[in-house]
Amino acid sequence: MKKFVALLLALMMVLAMGACSSNGTTTETPNDTAATDDAATTDDAATTDDAATEDTGAADGELIKVGFAQVGHESDWRTASTKSAQDVFTAENGYELSFVDCDNDSAVQLDAVRNFIQQGMDYIIIDPIVATGWDTVLTECEDEGIPVIVIDRTVDDSDKYVSWVGSNFKTEGLACGEWLKAYAAAQGITEINALVIEGSTGASATIGRTEGFKEIADREGWTILDSQNGDFTEAGGQEVMESYCQSYKGQFNVVICQNDNEAYGAMTAMDQAGVTYGVGGDVILVSFDANKAALQLVLDGKINANFECNPMAAPDVDAIIKQLEAGETPEKEVYMNESWFVAEDVAGETITVDGQEQALVLMTQEVLDARPY
Ligand code: AHR
Repeated sequence: MKKFVALLLALMMVLAMGACSSNGTTTETPNDTAATDDAATTDDAATTDDAATEDTGAADGELIKVGFAQVGHESDWRTASTKSAQDVFTAENGYELSFVDCDNDSAVQLDAVRNFIQQGMDYIIIDPIVATGWDTVLTECEDEGIPVIVIDRTVDDSDKYVSWVGSNFKTEGLACGEWLKAYAAAQGITEINALVIEGSTGASATIGRTEGFKEIADREGWTILDSQNGDFTEAGGQEVMESYCQSYKGQFNVVICQNDNEAYGAMTAMDQAGVTYGVGGDVILVSFDANKAALQLVLDGKINANFECNPMAAPDVDAIIKQLEAGETPEKEVYMNESWFVAEDVAGETITVDGQEQALVLMTQEVLDARPY
């Protein structure tokens, strides 16, 4: 009997040790514990990400695939906009960027967006060359569950995008008009005969700036002698200005260029035609964008005023994507901060635009040095 009890105890101990041994493998070593916890975390994350994948298409640990259908490469502003995206949407920041330069061709841009859909992008960024013709392709994006973020120029015939980040182009045009009114009054100029070099036809940047300036011109009884398309390029600005110099010789005292590159072209044309411009010149020269090279010309007194269009939208787009990844709802419209730069301290320190008092920034070397683009 004693032998039987001893055997039974020995058997129980062996069984107990076996049980201990099996538990120990799972819980005893910190590494194993970590491995178990990691596995649990991964599973949890996978579950969370499955949900996220349903919402946005982005999978855990993978780079977020972003397709960007950029307008083209027509201007220095555009170069700064592209750089802003390429600096932000990097692998280091968790992104894989597919970039398409659409060369100012709307058909190419629509194709680019459809290719992004086929490639299964997680997000699509569009800077619309023109403001209309978007609803069908944006519906296709929506049907595939791909969030679209519009930057810079607006889409005016569809709201099937998550957010838009950009500038109020009409405000820029209004600001230009209000500044010209104050400047002309301070200089004793009673008659305004303006020539406008527009940006690309159908672009919301062109539409807004044209409308804003015209509103003030009509209110003040100014004459807009002509308004033609310079396509936002230096060559376009030069070509339009060369023809203006011939057609309106001696008749104009204001030239409004809807971007800096057009202003460079217009300056070349006026130089060739013997027309002086800028501070102390025959012609008041105004530009939009406020790239650093153009602000140097404001500092030099060659351009009288420059109305900023801020190209650094990518950090805001990054923030919007992060909000979407977190299941949050971003703002539908995000406006960029912009400033109005002037060569002379004669039109006062502020202008009132659409009922809002806004500062005029007198161009100095210090201001120029601080500019980011
Ligand atoms: O849409 C923004 C405009 O497009 C900028 O003013 C111009 O420089 C660019 O090409």
